[in-house]
Amino acid sequence: MFDRLLNGKRVLLGVTGGIAAYKAADLCSKLAQAGAEVDVILTEAAAKFVAPLTFAALSGRPARVDLWTSPGGDPIPHVTMAAAADTVIVAPLSANTLAKLALGLADNLLTSTLLATPIASQKPGFSEKPGFSSPDQEQGVPWILAPAMESHMWANPLTQAHAAALRARGAVVVGPGVGRLASGAQGAGRMAEPAEILAAARLALAQGGPLAGRRVVVTAGGTQEPLDPVRFLTNASSGKMGVALAEAARDLGAAATLVHAPLAVAVPFGVESVPVRTAAQMCDAVLARLPDTDILIGAAAVADFRPAEPAGQKIKKTPGQVDLVVHLTRTPDILAEVAARRAEIGRPQVVIGFAAETQDLLANAAAKLAAKKLDIIVANDVTEPGSGFGSDDNRVTLLFADGRQEALPIMPKGEVAARVLESALARLVSPH
Ligand code: CTP
Repeated sequence: MFDRLLNGKRVLLGVTGGIAAYKAADLCSKLAQAGAEVDVILTEAAAKFVAPLTFAALSGRPARVDLWTSPGGDPIPHVTMAAAADTVIVAPLSANTLAKLALGLADNLLTSTLLATPIASQKPGFSEKPGFSSPDQEQGVPWILAPAMESHMWANPLTQAHAAALRARGAVVVGPGVGRLASGAQGAGRMAEPAEILAAARLALAQGGPLAGRRVVVTAGGTQEPLDPVRFLTNASSGKMGVALAEAARDLGAAATLVHAPLAVAVPFGVESVPVRTAAQMCDAVLARLPDTDILIGAAAVADFRPAEPAGQKIKKTPGQVDLVVHLTRTPDILAEVAARRAEIGRPQVVIGFAAETQDLLANAAAKLAAKKLDIIVANDVTEPGSGFGSDDNRVTLLFADGRQEALPIMPKGEVAARVLESALARLVSPH
């Protein structure tokens, strides 16, 4: 799948000896599918587990093992590959190679290449201007390390000290996870899953993006309003659109926070999760963060009414009872509360809402844009087949406070999210 962040990026994938090397093939495939150019270097031990040919076939590029032969005719591949890399991933990383990297040893192609590739520190930068700054080799590139070894080797203070030394220089250490190890024993030492390693790489690459140093808060999911201790009123929202927005914000370098009711999908790696249940809780969580919020996106399907007096015990039916009348009362309108506070504190700089409609889409959306004092509203006809609640795609129209409208074709929610964030960014850097 095309990936804005990884497309065209040079990834140096180091693979060391261990049974988890087979999972590195999956990681290589995922990177290549995302459009990355993957230079794979295996240690001799890794090549005993998985053939270099596997990686060459998956990446479409030569996979190297030996420092002394150069398949592409390049006499100094360790220097060339180091200079070209946008990011380094070593997965799996053995205890042996971890120790060598911490000490700066260079006794094979992988360790020589990595010694020539400085580690970027992972502190988020700050950029006023839109557009990614290209990775600066002087300042180094992100290093993502995924250790995998027996739990006693991982727990050894020597190994821990080596991992700490690399972390202190800016390397991101993902995992290892707890589970079944090659020995059959249970313990800490399993390589992190490829999806998690990929997410860590994406998070590192996003730093220095156009939203670096900014906080984006997104609300997501359908709130749950209790009727009694075991029942609640809710709606059909899956939270997928909000999750996609938080992910898109993260990919632009923002610190992303998801204030969410229960979701049908996982909170993405690198996104702060603030779980809530009711509209009132969501409102409190959003308002508490306003002074630090640059962009707020209200993608949650917030209940407008809640049972006025939730029963303290499970509501029981009585013999002969044919109906039950529940008195509902209004919940806070979160975006209206935000508008009131924004008038006082001048934050967030950009506020975006969604309009989920079943009729008169654009007229209703324009009315909400004005009533809630939004900068942008994303109008969404939830009756359209294959779009809206629960689906992976969405067709939306963006309405701007200055009257402009932008109708987007049906596209995956991730793409819609990227377009919404682009508009938010444009508004942030030139408010009028
Ligand atoms: N919203 C909110 N607080 C509420 C209700 C909605 O902040 N109590 C936000 C939603 O997150 C969304 C926008 O307001 O960004 C519009 O939500 P929607 O449900 O379409 O509209 P409502 O304002 O609830 O109006 P109505 O239900 O009457 O159409």
